[in-house]
Amino acid sequence: MEDASREQWGSRLGFILAAVGSAVGLGNMWRFPYVTAESGGAAFLVLYLVMVLLVGLPIMLAEFSVGRGSKKSPIQALAHYGGPGWKPLGGLFVLTGLLILSYYAVIAGWTMRYTLAALVEGFQGVDAAARFDRFAAGLDAVGWHLGFMALTIAIVVGGIKKGIERAALTLIPLLFLIVIGLDIYAATLSGSGEGYAYYLQPSLDALMSPDVLAAAAGQAFFSLSLGMGAMLTYSSYLSKEENLPQESLTIALSDFGIAFLAGLLVFPLMFALGLSGEVGESTVGALFISIPGAFTTMGGAGRVVGFLFFGALFVGALTSSISLLEVVTSSAIDGLDWTRKKAALVAGVGIAILGLPAAFSLDALSLVDQLAGNVFLVVGALMLSIFVGWTMDDPIAEVRKGAGDVGWFPLWRQFLRWVVPALLLLVLYYSLQDTWAMITGMIG
Ligand code: PFF
Repeated sequence: MEDASREQWGSRLGFILAAVGSAVGLGNMWRFPYVTAESGGAAFLVLYLVMVLLVGLPIMLAEFSVGRGSKKSPIQALAHYGGPGWKPLGGLFVLTGLLILSYYAVIAGWTMRYTLAALVEGFQGVDAAARFDRFAAGLDAVGWHLGFMALTIAIVVGGIKKGIERAALTLIPLLFLIVIGLDIYAATLSGSGEGYAYYLQPSLDALMSPDVLAAAAGQAFFSLSLGMGAMLTYSSYLSKEENLPQESLTIALSDFGIAFLAGLLVFPLMFALGLSGEVGESTVGALFISIPGAFTTMGGAGRVVGFLFFGALFVGALTSSISLLEVVTSSAIDGLDWTRKKAALVAGVGIAILGLPAAFSLDALSLVDQLAGNVFLVVGALMLSIFVGWTMDDPIAEVRKGAGDVGWFPLWRQFLRWVVPALLLLVLYYSLQDTWAMITGMIG
């Protein structure tokens, strides 16, 4: 049944920028550079693009077809097309959203703290690693985490058009401008050439490793907000006219573009400032230690660049967090008949509490990141591709609306049936191994 009271986006651009806002976030500017560094630089970049196009795009289109077709939040949407037996997959989406936002908001809190530090104290005079230790875990982190969650809740309470769309329309163009501006600045630093070389010249050995393949796929899902119903939920607020394949391509390429531009910023900056040795040291704190370390050597300019850099990270984190909270909120509105205000508040406060362990311990944070980001998202995407590939009656009929009939649509479905699940099973195998190694490493 069509629900006439369901909210809708105000414009096509509003939807696209909100979806780009969900995709572009800490995943592009914090996770992408360090995963790239860890996985052999340019080789990873190539593989990552392949994964975005080969697996990311088909899954995004799958989420859009289920979301717009049903006009429901994830649990109801899956039941709509597949019967009640598919509700648990919707439940997994909601759970993944809860978990990701719980630690994502902690890191977002750090970005707020660092933006403020650039503005009022500067990065001089304090050892960068000591500063990170102080900001990253403990009462400081808890306070900023809670503040960030309050902001996210306030925007989601505002609703689709007045809250989420309005935030995206102002923040996303701003984010693109800052990143491009910083890229141009980085290019003027002497010694940045080596950074570009590291980032842009693939070493073929690394391309062949299954670990790198798994990392590229995991990063693609995380970065494109796939495998947990965020894109599904956003597309449920669409009218029928949009061309879904075209929107998917726009969103995926914008997301890749920002990740690529973030790399063009981080690598030259680190090489120009003599931090190349730290490039391969990938920990959750890498960016928060080495980059401010670099800013101290730049004097006054370091504060301006630092403010813009961490400000951009914060803006990206905010528009992504909104989408994470919206998945949980819309599920509570549809499933429990709550008002938007009550749903966003209860979900947001619950998530803020759930995030407290991550705000006190970096180990807890890394573990939830690994579990939710590399395991739950992959399982979610795997099940969704099986759902749309095998269970849904005619997903192509939905995609055709607004896009006409295109010859490759049947191929898309075959992809979801065979290629995507096969690849994802492989990825899951390596992710589970990594997760196990991490858990035993922490216990031992
Ligand atoms: N795509 C976001 C990023 O790259 O930072 C993170 C994210 C948002 C993941 C929303 C999943 C999601 F549903």
